Amino acid sequence: MWAPQLHKGLSPLQLCRIMRPDDANIMGNVHGGIILKMIEEAGCIVSTRHCNTQDGDRCLALLVRVEKTEFLSPVFIGEVVHITAEITYTSKHSLEVQVIVMAENILTGGKRLASKAALWYVPCSLQNVSNIMEVPSIQYVSAEQEEEGRKRYEAQKIERMETKARVEEVMPPLPNSEDATKEPHTVGFSQSSLIHLVGPLDCILHDYVHGGVTMKLMDEVAGIVAARHCNTNIVTASVDAINFHRKIKKGCVVTVTGRLTFVSNRSMELEVLVDAASLVEKEMKKYRAVSAFFTFISLDKDNMPLPVPPLKIKGEEEQRRFEEGNARYLQAKAKRLADNRQQ
Ligand code: COA
Repeated sequence: MWAPQLHKGLSPLQLCRIMRPDDANIMGNVHGGIILKMIEEAGCIVSTRHCNTQDGDRCLALLVRVEKTEFLSPVFIGEVVHITAEITYTSKHSLEVQVIVMAENILTGGKRLASKAALWYVPCSLQNVSNIMEVPSIQYVSAEQEEEGRKRYEAQKIERMETKARVEEVMPPLPNSEDATKEPHTVGFSQSSLIHLVGPLDCILHDYVHGGVTMKLMDEVAGIVAARHCNTNIVTASVDAINFHRKIKKGCVVTVTGRLTFVSNRSMELEVLVDAASLVEKEMKKYRAVSAFFTFISLDKDNMPLPVPPLKIKGEEEQRRFEEGNARYLQAKAKRLADNRQQ
């Protein structure tokens, strides 16, 4: 299990709070989006604090990437979530923050690992958000630790170049045919959208929305799609790497759309796309701000995975996305098996 690595002169940030009924679904399972928002808040505090230890403009660290995040065990109402966040690598303009999430049952004292995450932040000047500031470097305990960090930095740089094109992909409209949207277990049947006006509550030190807020909305839409497909209690199992290429300003309207891409025997993969448009700045065109793949599982009343109804595929586009989803599913499964064997 990853544990805080104790970089010289840096202490990990601790954040904890009890889970309330409005953090969970009707079955008492805490939403993955709530955990993602807490993870992001911890990352934002630790990286903004670090970047302001130097002279010059004050800055806010903006979330630009979250590595694939697994939700290892469900968290319930009344449990206490403990987040530990630590800066583990700095490049010239970005920082990596690693986070561990523990869930504590305060009645029994039992603690378990709920999730682990790695996030990347970029400091932007509060005077002018287009100015990306330099990041004060951290001191590593050993040369190996620094080298490992550099490898993670290089690997994500390559991966995000490869996925940039997909972010630009245009969302097809909902199927026109009445029949297609009414036929259960088709992509069109469960596809769902949520519209949100970015207001002051979504932004803290400047006029741009926090990544945690966006991830929470994305998880909410993904959950609606998954529940519409299988009509059961559903939970987030994992979120693939997310890149935040564009900022979303206060006053923008965001449309978050989710659709099923792939279904295995007991899991569902959903693609969630976030489009933003300004209500007042007419010259600003609607743009794709973020996209990500979420995996959900359906649970019975004892929190055991249930079979998922097969997805009825219509047309070549849906078939292509299904096959790509299948490839991601097989790859993730092989990686989990390899990781388990190593432990
Ligand atoms: N993941 C990790 N690092 C990233 C990244 C990503 N998705 N995008 C940029 N970076 C890093 C780069 O590696 C670079 O650091 P380096 O010089 O040390 O290697 C640094 O950011 C600047 O990269 P650059 O290419 O000059 O800038 P950019 O054109 O990618 O713009 C932002 C960077 C932050 C201005 C832009 O990506 C942005 O505005 N993103 C949205 C951030 C946000 O609003 N988050 C919340 C969304 S809801």
